[in-house]
Amino acid sequence: MNVLITGANRGIGLGFVKHYLAQECDVWATYRSDIGGLADIDDDRLRTLQWDITVEKDDSFLQAMSLPGQLDLLINNAGIYGPKKAHGQAFDTITTETMQEVFEVDCVGALKVSQLLASRVIAARGVIANMSSKMGSSEDNTSGGCYAYRAAKAALVIVSRSMAMDLADDNVRVITLHPGWVSTDMTNHSGLIDVATSVAGLTKVISNVDHYQPGAFVAFDGKVVPY
Ligand SMILES: NC(=O)c1ccc[n+]([C@@H]2O[C@H](COP(=O)([O-])OP(=O)(O)OC[C@H]3O[C@@H](n4cnc5c(N)ncnc54)[C@H](OP(=O)(O)O)[C@@H]3O)[C@@H](O)[C@H]2O)c1
Repeated sequence: MNVLITGANRGIGLGFVKHYLAQECDVWATYRSDIGGLADIDDDRLRTLQWDITVEKDDSFLQAMSLPGQLDLLINNAGIYGPKKAHGQAFDTITTETMQEVFEVDCVGALKVSQLLASRVIAARGVIANMSSKMGSSEDNTSGGCYAYRAAKAALVIVSRSMAMDLADDNVRVITLHPGWVSTDMTNHSGLIDVATSVAGLTKVISNVDHYQPGAFVAFDGKVVPY
């Protein structure tokens, strides 16, 4: 199985890499600028690619990176939180620039990567998994704030749903994921679960993609997230 994971140098992305290598998959792991934890993995099945998802790429980039013609699984994991809640994502401090910066990575980035890799996922009749967050769920939002992150992750949910509809005739399954509150740099390691627990659950959800509606928003514990 051929798997490509974005934002794979640390955190949950790196956890996905380790999981799929252990499953004897061929893994293409992308990183924005710092190869990070990928440098410590000694496995012939791992290929690394430098890819900032906010930078426009074309097919010549993929060919130069020797990407395979078939991708069974694309995980759009890369994401940013933006400024902390009390320092730039509050009602009175949020700016156009912050809204756009987070949207560009968390929503547009996943869409652009999917567009570029779509023919390869279609060739494999594969799966696209988009990493959103429960913070993008309207129903779950009882505390407010976090304007940029919430808006970008909510936008990704609906973009993911459209991708699920548009690619269904090509036999591509698209699912949206919530990883739980995970101990990573993004949460200052304050999460309730560790990366291994999150990845174990998320990869099970991905394996069971056909049990969910196209474009369903599903948490690491297998429960559908209302949005
Ligand atoms: N941790 C949680 O509790 C939690 C909860 C809900 C959703 N999520 C989502 O899960 C995903 C992974 O989160 P995490 O906790 O593992 O966060 P993390 O430790 O902060 O890792 C984020 C990853 O995204 C990469 N990235 C950021 N901007 C990028 C860009 N422009 N191009 C390519 N890669 C980029 C980072 O690369 P650099 O190292 O180069 O910055 C890093 O590899 C994110 O989408 C996040 O929003 C996490």
